[in-house]
Amino acid sequence: MSIEKFIREIPKAELHLHIEGSFQPELMFDIAKRNHIEIPYKSVEELKKAYKFGCLQDFLDIYYTGAGVLLKEEDFYDLTMAYFEACRENNIIFAEIMFDPQTHTQRGVSFDTVIRGIQEAREEAKEKYGIDSLLIMSYLRHLSEEEAFKTLEQSLPYKEWITSVGLDSSERGNPPSKFRKVFEASVKEGYRPVAHAGEEGDADYIWEAIDLLGVHRIDHGNRSLQDENLVKEIVKRDLALTVCPLSNLELRNVDVLTSHPLKKLMDKGIKVTVNSDDPAYFGGHLNENFLQIRKALDLTKEDIVELVKNSFQYSFASEEQKSGYLKRVDAFVADFQD
Ligand code: HPA
Ligand code: ZN
Repeated sequence: MSIEKFIREIPKAELHLHIEGSFQPELMFDIAKRNHIEIPYKSVEELKKAYKFGCLQDFLDIYYTGAGVLLKEEDFYDLTMAYFEACRENNIIFAEIMFDPQTHTQRGVSFDTVIRGIQEAREEAKEKYGIDSLLIMSYLRHLSEEEAFKTLEQSLPYKEWITSVGLDSSERGNPPSKFRKVFEASVKEGYRPVAHAGEEGDADYIWEAIDLLGVHRIDHGNRSLQDENLVKEIVKRDLALTVCPLSNLELRNVDVLTSHPLKKLMDKGIKVTVNSDDPAYFGGHLNENFLQIRKALDLTKEDIVELVKNSFQYSFASEEQKSGYLKRVDAFVADFQD
């Protein structure tokens, strides 16, 4: 049996994907041109050459520059639709999409423009391709809590389109505790909390995310292995990690994929999911993440099935949706032929 074919074809969910990080250079150039915006790179090739990062901040600087060409509703629609096309190629049938409103509102683009463009694409993807999705509104942690409160306020008229709130951007020096009050207020509004923690920050940031923000999942969380008590607590509270292998490699959180902690985390009993994070910048969508981490860590077919099932099980889909998705996975596994 070809494990590669199995990985490519198995139905999957993606739980950690920044829509701005799915912005392919070709589309970026097209949109820059139609919006009459100069990007500081002459060509797609030159831009791609700049995708060499020493750390998270190196990447974020380029990511925010790229997002700077998005101005109109149709730009956000095109961006999101391009991601759904990738979902089809990767057999992603359910996607939880993060978006960073402040990356745009800070530049004078309205919240309404951003979310309407994304929402239109979501509805079309459901109708045309049968792909289900939901939205995670992420606060930028390098900005103040007051700015996050403004974003929460702006989101309220669109509440029915948003399921969850997250926390992203520069981790070190911006601990979850900085956002305790706005997360509390967000949960009161019905949003389900997640947060990036333990990507570059230490285990104490993960403790804060679970104790102070009450997150249902931890984005990345690799560094939980620093603290045995934390590992036990994550297992006890049944919190999944959204792990992003190629992101960790490209942002130098691991030197080589063979030293990636994914399998160690699984062996400790933590529920791990595999995700692409920012596929346009880190060298591949979800299938590529699965293929490369499988090879690097010599994962078995059973490991792959477990990871895929976790991504549905620990999603924010309804219980009815989850059971339907898991049945599809079981049917695929039973019927799979090389
Ligand atoms: N980490 C933190 N913030 C982000 C990332 C990431 O990988 N991608 C987009 N914003
Ligand atoms: Zn991320």
